Amino acid sequence: MRRTDIHDAAYAVVNGGIGFVPIPPDCPEKTSFMLAELARLGRLRQEGAIKEHAWGYEPDHKGQYDGGLSQYRTDERKDVFHFEPKTRDILASQGAPVHEWDDFFRAQAESWYALYRLTDELMRAFEQLMPERGIYDSFKSFGLRHPNRGLVYARRRGNDVETATPHTDRAFVSLHHSETGPGFFVIPHDTQERLRLHIPKGYAAVFPGLKFYKMTGGLVRPIVHGTYEVPACEPDGRRASVFFAHTAIAHL
Ligand SMILES: [Fe+2]
Repeated sequence: MRRTDIHDAAYAVVNGGIGFVPIPPDCPEKTSFMLAELARLGRLRQEGAIKEHAWGYEPDHKGQYDGGLSQYRTDERKDVFHFEPKTRDILASQGAPVHEWDDFFRAQAESWYALYRLTDELMRAFEQLMPERGIYDSFKSFGLRHPNRGLVYARRRGNDVETATPHTDRAFVSLHHSETGPGFFVIPHDTQERLRLHIPKGYAAVFPGLKFYKMTGGLVRPIVHGTYEVPACEPDGRRASVFFAHTAIAHL
């Protein structure tokens, strides 16, 4: 990883933009496999073949997802899986048949650690650019609980093309590191126009969330963003993955 790539991305983010960092070499392949397995898990869920609570389903408080597979909602046309290093053990303790999904969890763990190391470098760069706010220390204090989110969207149904309405993330920064089709859009601070974001192949888009805003006293505003369906991805539906880097402060 070239240090200038990290620094340039951090510089763009602290100046109100979106940064791009090269994805660790093995991540795309592992993420693609993880999303294929997540699609399989989602199909099993729809068929009633797995017990909901055994895979981490929890009441969906204020739209938050907990570890493992998200709660199924009929109005939510996607399967979501949140992974962090303890997820496999937690799900095992809840009775999930994790041993039958070893390849899935191995791919999750390997890509998680690679993305965590990349995030560590990014957080050091933010610390350098905005010192004396405790950004890096707060990141380390959060431990290893940063979730890597896998998303598999359902098939299209009619004209509803928005899969995520405009929102800001709770994390300090989000690394949007995988998508099977260009469905990501942002709303820049100086306009209300939605802009489809072209993410260069091999790169992750890095953008700030609410914790960044809070830790900088409002200097770095969170990026409003959302997602569209991508017809070219049908019939499988668009798939994507985002790593959320947190600091140890409450979100707003
Ligand atoms: Fe988001």
